[in-house]
Amino acid sequence: MDIFTGLNPETKYSNGRLQLIFGAWVASALFDRKGKVSVGNGDISEDDYTKQSIYALLYSLYREMGTVLSEHGEPYEFTFNTWGYDWPAGWGKRPAGTRDPQRFGKYAYSGLFQVDEVQAYAAARDGRVHIVEMGCGTGAGAHHVCTEVWPECTYVAIDMQGAAIETCRRKHVPGLNGRLTAIHGDATKVDIASNSADFIVINETHVMEYAGLVTEEDARFFGAVLDRLKPGGFFVWGNAIPNVTWQPCFDYLKSLGMVEVQVQDVTAEAIVARDLDEPRAEAYVKECVNKFLAFRVPFIGPRRAREAGRAMRNFFRHPGTRLYDNMVDGTDTYKVVCFQKPL
Ligand SMILES: C[S@@+](CC[C@H](N)C(=O)[O-])C[C@H]1O[C@@H](n2cnc3c(N)ncnc32)[C@H](O)[C@@H]1O
Repeated sequence: MDIFTGLNPETKYSNGRLQLIFGAWVASALFDRKGKVSVGNGDISEDDYTKQSIYALLYSLYREMGTVLSEHGEPYEFTFNTWGYDWPAGWGKRPAGTRDPQRFGKYAYSGLFQVDEVQAYAAARDGRVHIVEMGCGTGAGAHHVCTEVWPECTYVAIDMQGAAIETCRRKHVPGLNGRLTAIHGDATKVDIASNSADFIVINETHVMEYAGLVTEEDARFFGAVLDRLKPGGFFVWGNAIPNVTWQPCFDYLKSLGMVEVQVQDVTAEAIVARDLDEPRAEAYVKECVNKFLAFRVPFIGPRRAREAGRAMRNFFRHPGTRLYDNMVDGTDTYKVVCFQKPL
């Protein structure tokens, strides 16, 4: 069993199935001397995992872990699959308190709309804007936007992971009186009407991240953004990706006729967020490892537990991992970007 490539994005794995999956992975350590996870920095080579498998595992894991306690003892369910960033000085009041375990995800979603032109556009419509999100995860950000940012909006949230959309329908859709719709599928392929969205959100979706180029999948994302936006609507996008990838993406968007409105670099704040979030992430990794019995098998159990812990820390961009170091040395930069579709 290879947990990095073998899992199905259509499936939500129950606790029993996760116990078996981790059991098989631990057992496979007997025949796998090297392992895929770097001992030093938790890195896994791009060729050694698929996003379909990794997110299938993570979203089922988050679901089965349920409510946990943060390092401050605050109960929460892990739903923001977002690194985020600390709220920049000068952006006004923080959209969530400093003890909120998932504040950096909330800041990232609020931050997408910190653009004067976007605020004016929404104000002219009394906040009654229609938003489409491509790669919404569990919809935690969608829920935050619907309740805290644009309480009059309607929102369609799309993700390719069945377990994430199930969490969205269980936790975030009820209570919003039909304003939030969750759709399972490839965000570039599901049926969304042309010229229908005031805003398109892409927040830390696992795309546009190959160094220095726009991949075929990225081009599909940008094409779908252009098609679905109303003339005059805005594409808001935040992520930490290779610094050399931003300009090719901007050039591609401009080649489609999109107009750059604002680009803000929040890498320094993203590093602060990872530093401040370390105790919470560390507590979460420990709870996950403790929950699965296979990690208690002598010798191979602790070895796989170390690998799983390193991989999770790397996905969280924990201090000391390659992804964290990439932000410190500028290989990756976190930007918050806004482009407009011309009238
Ligand atoms: C790091 S997570 C971020 C999730 C969410 N935006 C958040 O900030 O919590 C990346 C998400 O992108 C989704 N994703 C990547 N490619 C996708 C695609 N082509 N269609 C739909 N979802 C996609 C993954 O399933 C995953 O949930």
